[in-house]
Amino acid sequence: MSQNLATVAYLGATMLFILSLGGLSNPETSRRGNLYGMIGMTIAVLATVFGPRVMAGGSAWIIAAMAVGAGIGVYAARVVKMTQMPELVALMHSLVGLAAMLVGFANYIDPAAAAQLTGAEKTIHEAEVYIGILIGAITFSGSVIAFGKLSGKIGGNPLLLPARHWINLVGLLVVIWFGAEFLRAESVNEGMVALIVMTVIALLFGIHMVMAIGGADMPVVVSMLNSYSGWAAAATGFMLSNDLLIVTGALVGSSGAILSYIMCRAMNRHFISVIAGGFGTSGAPAPAAGGEPAGEVSPISAAESAELLREAKSVIIVPGYGMAVAQAQHTVYEITRLLRERGVNVRFGIHPVAGRMPGHMNVLLAEAKVPYDIVLEMDELNDDFPATDVAMVIGANDIVNPAAQDDPASPIAGMPVLEVWKAKTSIVMKRSMASGYAGVDNPLFYKENNRMLFGDAKKMLDEVLAALKG
Ligand code: TAP
Repeated sequence: MSQNLATVAYLGATMLFILSLGGLSNPETSRRGNLYGMIGMTIAVLATVFGPRVMAGGSAWIIAAMAVGAGIGVYAARVVKMTQMPELVALMHSLVGLAAMLVGFANYIDPAAAAQLTGAEKTIHEAEVYIGILIGAITFSGSVIAFGKLSGKIGGNPLLLPARHWINLVGLLVVIWFGAEFLRAESVNEGMVALIVMTVIALLFGIHMVMAIGGADMPVVVSMLNSYSGWAAAATGFMLSNDLLIVTGALVGSSGAILSYIMCRAMNRHFISVIAGGFGTSGAPAPAAGGEPAGEVSPISAAESAELLREAKSVIIVPGYGMAVAQAQHTVYEITRLLRERGVNVRFGIHPVAGRMPGHMNVLLAEAKVPYDIVLEMDELNDDFPATDVAMVIGANDIVNPAAQDDPASPIAGMPVLEVWKAKTSIVMKRSMASGYAGVDNPLFYKENNRMLFGDAKKMLDEVLAALKG
């Protein structure tokens, strides 16, 4: 493939990626957005593999490696459960970071690359290598820890080392100092020492950064690492002088950064405080061990819940992580359809960090064919709870915790929540009194107008549906 054709293909792919992001901004156009992304990526890969920069005979190696990678990818995508998706995404971010690191090292020791450049060009190239490896290493180790935390292999509580901010600051200064050493290095061997020291510090920083963030702040970490993986790819693009990689990396990096900002706003947190780690936990007492229950609750049966729903004029359903675990979205849809046919105003209240990944609930509800126009964001319907007969909480916990508003000492203090307790009656569907992701007890459960429907969400909702039909 000629250089010109490859450039045109890259331009086409770039446009498709931008269209893809545009499409993904709305549930109704997201399928199209995904399709654009897939076509764009296919064009980009083909133009690269068969492009002018791959030496004769090199394509065979690349295709063989791609076949292995694609095989693993297809297998992982087929076996992963929807609830494990965030872990898989975190693991994939780590691969982007690892790739950026490896490309950086390979580029630095590549004799051809070194021989071509002199003077300012050489310095700029080496700075690209250094920054690329730095971002790649932080992304890699941070994402591996995020994977561990999201999959429960590493505890969710923040690890707050004494003087952690000083440790980070010293790490940063050492990285800057070795950066200057690296640029001054006379030989590859000399530069390699600086590069390795920086890589080790960056890896430790990535681990420390994510270990220090805990509980309810994890959503910000996920989107932040998404953003980092984009910047790591963009840095690789600069190293390799690959325009498409620069543009694609910048798109991922900036959209991830915007998502992080949205997440922070949703959690009422400052971005810097989240990255600095442990915000909201350092001054406050540690969460009650496992969120020990602190009061009496009023249980309710599925039949009684159905009765309440039947008599209601307006119902707000608040889904959370438990709905995803139980895969209860299809039964939720059936109940919604039945109630709407009977003239009940049913709406869904979606918290920005419900579940374990951005848009988790929207994806599940869309899969179950719940109409988009009754799926509303928290801000759109939070004022409507006082005029609501039944608020039905399905496997949600942290996102409906009144302690976020009432208890300044709570680790989730200040996080906006869905005010389900303001409805005439709220029904919370979960299996036990266990706490949610943030590990804090939920005073909602003990409120006078709250009822607990204990059991697996799918099983309970099946019973509610049967009772409604009966
Ligand atoms: P959580 O607070 O984690 O609560 C989920 C509840 O679902 C649990 O208390 C659990 O109680 C219940 N549950 C689990 N399996 C169930 C099943 N099969 N049937 C019925 N109930 C079940 O979830 P949430 O309210 O959606 O809040 C999300 C939390 O995750 C926030 O703290 C958020 O910060 C964090 N987080 C979010 C993200 C993103 S991006 N969305 C990423 C990482 C972390 P039982 O065990 O008693 O059943």
